[in-house]
Amino acid sequence: MTSVRSPGAIEATERLRAALAAEARTLHERLGIPEPAPGGKMLRPLMARAAAGLHDPGVEVLRGALAIQMVHEASLLHDDILDDCALRRGEASLAARAGLPAALVEGDHLLTSAYRVAASTGSLPFVECFSRAVERTVAGEKAQARAAGRWLTEAEYREIIAGKSGELFGCAASLAAHLRNDPEAAARDRALGARTGEIYQMVDDFLDLCPSARLGKPPLLDLKQRKWTWPLAETGALAFPDPSGFDDFVVSLFRPERGSAPSPMSRARDRLAARVNALIRDWNTAHPDDELVPGFLASWLESVNATLEREEAAAQGFPQGPAGRTGPGGAVAEAPSDEAAAAVHREAAALGGPGGWQASFATHARTFRFAARLFPAEQERLVAGVYAFCRFTDDLVDHAPDPDPRVLEARLRAWTGLVRRAWSHQDTGIPLLDEVLGETARRGVPVLYAEELIRGVAMDLEPSDYPDMAALRGYSYRVASVVGLWLTELFGTHAPVVLRRAEALGHAMQLTNILRDVGEDWGRGRLYLPLDRMAAHGVDRTSLDEAVRGGTLPEGWIPLMEELLGHAEADYQLAFDAIPALPVFFQRPVAVAARVYGGIHDEIRKNGYDTLTRRAWTRFPTKLRLGARALLELRRTRRGFTSSGEALRPFAPIAPLPPAVLRGGP
Ligand code: FPP
Ligand code: MG
Repeated sequence: MTSVRSPGAIEATERLRAALAAEARTLHERLGIPEPAPGGKMLRPLMARAAAGLHDPGVEVLRGALAIQMVHEASLLHDDILDDCALRRGEASLAARAGLPAALVEGDHLLTSAYRVAASTGSLPFVECFSRAVERTVAGEKAQARAAGRWLTEAEYREIIAGKSGELFGCAASLAAHLRNDPEAAARDRALGARTGEIYQMVDDFLDLCPSARLGKPPLLDLKQRKWTWPLAETGALAFPDPSGFDDFVVSLFRPERGSAPSPMSRARDRLAARVNALIRDWNTAHPDDELVPGFLASWLESVNATLEREEAAAQGFPQGPAGRTGPGGAVAEAPSDEAAAAVHREAAALGGPGGWQASFATHARTFRFAARLFPAEQERLVAGVYAFCRFTDDLVDHAPDPDPRVLEARLRAWTGLVRRAWSHQDTGIPLLDEVLGETARRGVPVLYAEELIRGVAMDLEPSDYPDMAALRGYSYRVASVVGLWLTELFGTHAPVVLRRAEALGHAMQLTNILRDVGEDWGRGRLYLPLDRMAAHGVDRTSLDEAVRGGTLPEGWIPLMEELLGHAEADYQLAFDAIPALPVFFQRPVAVAARVYGGIHDEIRKNGYDTLTRRAWTRFPTKLRLGARALLELRRTRRGFTSSGEALRPFAPIAPLPPAVLRGGP
C-alpha cells in the first residue's frame, strides 16, 4: 500500500535497510544462508527498532529483525502463488517472472534459513516467540483458505488476520524485550505489535475494496476471489455479489445510505480510526519517545481517508443501481418512516430506566435470569440492559401495531438510527439506549454488534430458506452470537480466539432454540432447519407438515435431530473450553447458562425427539442440578487451562473444507 511517509521515517527506513543488508552479507559469508536484499517497506524491522528504542540497534536486534523480514518475504512469495497474483510492489511477482517452482523453493529457502538467523541472536525466548509466530502466520493463511467463499463473521476474520498479519509484527515488537529477558515487557510489546499488524492488514483490506487505490497490485482482488474482509460487515449483505451485480455492489460501498447516513466504507473508516487512535494512545504510554509507529499508523489512516474521499466522489457520479434491497437483512426499500420513527421513540422511551429492564429480565428470560443471578450487581445491570435491547428489538417486529413489512422495516431502520446516535454519545432521550450503547462506546466496543442484531431480526421479515449449516450460521450469528460477542467485549475480552468461542456459544444456543421450536416455527410459516441436512435424512416439507398436524414423526427425523443436536453440542464444548479465558465474574454465569440451556437437549431426547407437537423445557430442580454440575465442570476446565487463552486452538469452520486442506489435515 502507498502511504505518505515523513522524511524522518524515510531516512530511518533506509538506514535500517542498509544495516540489515550489511548484516545479511556477514551472515551469508559466515553461515552460508542466502543473501536476502531486504525490500519493501520494512515495517516489521522498523517495528523492532522502534520498540528497542535505539538509534543504532545492536547486532542481535538486527539479526532478529532480519529473520522476521526473511519470513515475511517468504510468505509473500508463497502468498502470490496462493492468490494467483502476478503483481507485487508494482512489479511482476517472482511467480510470474520465474515461474511457480522457482517462487516456491525461493520462499522455502528464505523460510528455512531464517531459523538459523533467528538462532544467531542467542536468545531462546526470542527463538520460541519467532517459531510460534511463523507457525501462526501459516495457520492464519490456512484458516483464510478454509474460509474462502464464505460470508465470515468479524470474529472469524479477526482470528485470521491475528495469525497471518499480527504474529510477525508482534514478534518484531517484542524482540528487544526478549533479548533483555524481560518477559513482562515482551508480552506487552507483542500485544501492541500484533494490534499494529492487524490494523495494517485491515487497511490493506480496506484499500483492496477501493478501485482507485494504488496498491502495487490489482484492485478488488479479495472481493473477486470471494475473500471476506471486515468492511463488508458494514454492508448488511449476507453473501457475495453475483458477477452481474459486482460493479453495483462496489459502488454501493461508497454511496451514502438513503441520502444522509454515511456510506458503508465511511462507517468502516470511522471504526478503523477509533482502533488506530486507541493503539496510538497505548503505544505512546509504553514507548513515549518513539514517533515512528504512531507516524505509520497516522499515515495509513491518511491514505484510507484520501482514498475514501476519492471513491465517494466517484460513486456520486455513478448511475444509481437497481433500487431496493441489497440482500436479506440488508438495506431495505424506502418506507413510511416519520410516523414509524416517532412510534419507536415513544415505545423505547416508555421502557424507562434500569429498574424497568431488570424487571423484564426477571420475568422473561428464565434460563438467562437463572444464570445471571451469579453476576455482581453492576455487571448484572449491563447484562439486563443488553437483554432488554435484544428483547425490545424483537418486539419492534413481533408487537408492532401494523404487520406491513414496509412499516416493520421502517421501525427497524429508525431503531438503527437511534442506536448509532446513542453510541456516538448523542442524547436520544431513551434511557436504555443512552446507558447501554453509551457504555458500549465508552468501553471501546463497536456498535456493529447491536446493528447486526437488528439485521438478524430483519431477516425474519422475509421468507427465507437456509440451504445449509453455513447459511443458518449466518442467521444465528446475527440473532445470537453477537450477544455473546457484545458482552464478552463489554467485559474487556477482545482476543480473537476467545471471541470465536463466544460466537460458538451463540450458534449453539440458537440451534438448541431452533430444534426445540421446530413445530411452533412451522406454524408461523418459518423453517430454520438446513435444507441439505433435511434432504440427507430424507425429511421433506410435506412429511414435516403432516407430523406437525399430529401425524407420525417423519422417517429420518431422529437421525436428523441427532446430527443437529451434535452440532450444537460441539459448539457448546468449544465455548465451554474457553470460559477460563473470561474475567472471573463472567465465568460462572456463562458456564451455567451454557449447560442449563444445553440441558434442553436431554428433554428433547426424553420426549422422543418430538419437537413438532411438543415443547421441551427444563424444570427448576433440573436447572439447579445442571447449574451445580456446570460449576464443577468449570473448576475442572480451569485447572486444565494454562493461561490467557494460550491453550485455545483455532477450530475449523463448519463449511466443507477444500480438498487440499482435507488432504493436509486440520
Ligand atoms: C498477505 O496477505 C499475506 C500474508 C500476510 C501472509 C501469507 C502467509 C502465507 C502464504 C503462508 C506461508 C507462510 C510462510 C511463512 C512461508 P494478502 O494476500 O491479504 O495481502 P496482499 O494483498 O499483500 O497479497
Ligand atoms: Mg495476496
